[in-house]
Amino acid sequence: MTGSTSPRDAWGTRAGFILAAVGSAVGLGNMWRFAYKASEGGGAAFVLVYLAIVALVGIPLMTSEFIIGRLAQESPARAVRRLGGPAWAPLGWLFVLCGLGILAYYSVIAGWTMRYAIDAIRNAIPSDTGAYFGEVSQGVDAALYHLVFMILTITVVAGGVKGGLERANLIMMPLMFLILISLAIWAVTLPNGAGGYAYYLRPDVSKLLDRDILTAAAGQSFFSLSLGMGALMTYASYLQSKENLAREAVTVALSDFGVAFTSGLVVFPVIFSFGLLDQVGESTVGALFIALPAGFDQLGRAGDYVDTAFFVMLLFAALTSAISLLEVVVAALVDGLHMRRRDAAIFAGFVIAVLGLPAAFNTTFLGNLDALVGQFLLMVGGLFTAFLVGYRLLPAADAELAKGMPNAGMRRVWASLVRYVAPVVLIIVLAFLTGPTWDAVVGLVTYAR
Ligand code: PFF
Repeated sequence: MTGSTSPRDAWGTRAGFILAAVGSAVGLGNMWRFAYKASEGGGAAFVLVYLAIVALVGIPLMTSEFIIGRLAQESPARAVRRLGGPAWAPLGWLFVLCGLGILAYYSVIAGWTMRYAIDAIRNAIPSDTGAYFGEVSQGVDAALYHLVFMILTITVVAGGVKGGLERANLIMMPLMFLILISLAIWAVTLPNGAGGYAYYLRPDVSKLLDRDILTAAAGQSFFSLSLGMGALMTYASYLQSKENLAREAVTVALSDFGVAFTSGLVVFPVIFSFGLLDQVGESTVGALFIALPAGFDQLGRAGDYVDTAFFVMLLFAALTSAISLLEVVVAALVDGLHMRRRDAAIFAGFVIAVLGLPAAFNTTFLGNLDALVGQFLLMVGGLFTAFLVGYRLLPAADAELAKGMPNAGMRRVWASLVRYVAPVVLIIVLAFLTGPTWDAVVGLVTYAR
């Protein structure tokens, strides 16, 4: 275990770092959120707005997080204060708060996923998937599976960067990709699936300038790319080599998009083939968990294998993301309070497990927590990260980026995106979101609403 006196943890290989960053990005967000956001948001129109935001805001900010992490060689919670000065300390606390807040409910959804995967293996998912979801998603069972998932997450993080995080990603990510591609190929064979592709990819251009699409795409991109809370910054702080961090950011962002897009190619044909559109159209947190197994159920024996594959894949994706959320908090405790890694993982994991209990008993609470932390606060974190890098640390950040990216023109483009484009987009989106976020806060405080 890494104590305060041993050398700092590091990745074993460069590929290990990239795989872990992709593992963090690819998660429940890609499969559970992307598909229904796209179906709400005019299909291909949403995809286009999403891609524009990823290119103009997501990739530049991810590059910035990588830069700060590698430059600082310590946990983001401390790094932003040391590099930026005492006034920046709250940004570090915000990162830790987001790690705690997101994992608290993320683990609940991952718990549902685990329950579905286990029941799928046992062939025990009932045909009435609506009632089944109602049982699984709130109450004592939901709390228990959430706790078990947290124990898994703690176990991986306690194992250290190389022995825990890197190894877990090395095993789970290739399997996840393999299952996803197999499912997408299988989906082509579904009767009447074509309507699903058409629906998913129809370019409803009237929605291109819709402000709800802009906010949904921006929120989705931050969550999906694991931006705004120092997760990828933490991962980059375990890097020492001089790779091109902008290129790594492009790799991570494109892989993340590829997975999100491909899961749409699984989800929509299933939904269309079995006439389940109205269930997804409601776009509640449960859409994926109700409609998809209902479709699988109609497939007879083939469905027994397909649902197992789907939920096991989702579980792997969730776990490789959850460990990055916990790692933000653990790194802060290890670097800031000199706790031993294992103790920090257990302590932080326990706190998060308790914080997640209200979400395990109430999906409305879960949705509100997602709106506040998983959407609004991530973008606040991203906005201040852009300010820190673009206005306070630019010379040092530029020099760090230059180690792997000698082309000064490209670095100027990056700097302009971080200084001007990202803040403007984020301020506009945050302004649009203040109303709904306030409603979410009221809902959280009053619990049941
Ligand atoms: N990117 C993950 C997903 O799409 O499921 C969720 C996530 C992980 C968000 C890590 C933020 C983060 F720091």
